[in-house]
Amino acid sequence: MGINVALDGPSGAGKSTIAKRIATELKYVYVDTGALYRSIAYYVISKGAKPDDKAGVIPLLPEISVKLEYRGGAQHVILNDEDVSDKIRTPEISMGASAVSAIPEVRDFLFDLQRDIAANNDIIMDGRDIGTVVLPDAQVKIFLTASAEERANRRFKELQEKGDPSTYDEVLKDIIQRDYNDTHREIAPLKKAEDAIEVDSTSMSLDEVVEHIKGIITEKAGAKKKRVKPEGEKKERKPLLDFSDIPPVKRGKKLNPIKLFFYNMLRYIVIFLLKCWFNLKFEGKENVPKDGSNIFASNHRSMLDPVLVELQCRVPNSFMAKEELFEKNKAFVGLIKFWGAFPIARGKGDTDAIKLSFEKLESGRNLLIFPEGTRSLDGKVGRGKTGVALIAAVAQCPVVPVGINFEGKLKFRRKIVVRFGKPISPEQLKVTTPGPKELKLLRTTIMDAITELVH
Ligand code: DC
Repeated sequence: MGINVALDGPSGAGKSTIAKRIATELKYVYVDTGALYRSIAYYVISKGAKPDDKAGVIPLLPEISVKLEYRGGAQHVILNDEDVSDKIRTPEISMGASAVSAIPEVRDFLFDLQRDIAANNDIIMDGRDIGTVVLPDAQVKIFLTASAEERANRRFKELQEKGDPSTYDEVLKDIIQRDYNDTHREIAPLKKAEDAIEVDSTSMSLDEVVEHIKGIITEKAGAKKKRVKPEGEKKERKPLLDFSDIPPVKRGKKLNPIKLFFYNMLRYIVIFLLKCWFNLKFEGKENVPKDGSNIFASNHRSMLDPVLVELQCRVPNSFMAKEELFEKNKAFVGLIKFWGAFPIARGKGDTDAIKLSFEKLESGRNLLIFPEGTRSLDGKVGRGKTGVALIAAVAQCPVVPVGINFEGKLKFRRKIVVRFGKPISPEQLKVTTPGPKELKLLRTTIMDAITELVH
């Protein structure tokens, strides 16, 4: 890993001009992430879709291949083999980029590309969410601002030089609108990272800003240079599982009715007990399928979550639990196994656990997954792992999104709301060519459905 400099800030603050100069002087690679969003907007518009129409944009993503190439020190944006570096610099594409950048699937689509470039080079990367989301561990984070009027002034001059007919008022209006869009979108909004240094360039000359930021970089990066990985240390990422020969799960197997009867008795007793202790509410119960072989995908807040979800399931759930739990005492292990837990080696993309999930679904049980992997302490829903998409895409079982809501810690009379969303049907889960891109899109669809239930 080289030195990573994250340069964020609103449109027109001069990020790209400054970053380019610093990159040349310090011999870093300059990465303009706005260009990536612009090329998506360019493609979407060229296909006659509207950049703010999520439903129209998402299906186009698998058709897009975007990469950055560096020739003679300049960045070129290659969109499906076409160099679009100049075509993406129009006011129409600027607005379009701001609109597509609010779509979580688009951000997800570009996330790895940005991370991969940063992993292998000394870079200065400019954007909106670099210090907060893309490179939260960057050694240097700068937040560059300037007043809206000053930014409009600079952009207006640039456009005039190019012969663009836009007026100053139009440019200012655009800047204000884009500031609003970029700071108010739900996902990765433009904001200063807590550990970023703010530089207000309103009354500074270009040279002054460049010198100032260069000073910050040399001071910070010099002090925190990260260990450089020896050649060959980078691990090849293997696909989680070869899809090709795994048939979809056969659904509809009925569990033993006597066992089901006792299971449901127990369920009502536990509901009663938990309602005595907590202020427990369920919403969307009608969305829970009556039969088994469904996947429940929930956000993860506490150890109680598997119970909270299960309380509305008329068929018992199986769920993955971290393998360390299976090393505890026999009684505990026996209990969690009886309940339906099976081990997963976290962080290793455990194929055995994934295959076991299919067996559990085929046996007629439901499968409960916490796609985030770990508990969220602040209540925010994380990105989720692609494993959930892989299981859903292969198994072709409905995915019921679940949102578990409570504030602070679980204690006596704490209000807990468990919301069940409409199941995502097997038709919506179908991926034609199941590659990493498709799985990431599907993961985001599932995570979006969960996020909607958390408020
Ligand atoms: O920096 P720019 O003007 O080329 O960016 C175009 C749009 O892309 C901008 O309105 C917001 C969006 N963007 C983003 O959301 N995240 C980034 N990292 C970079 C750009």
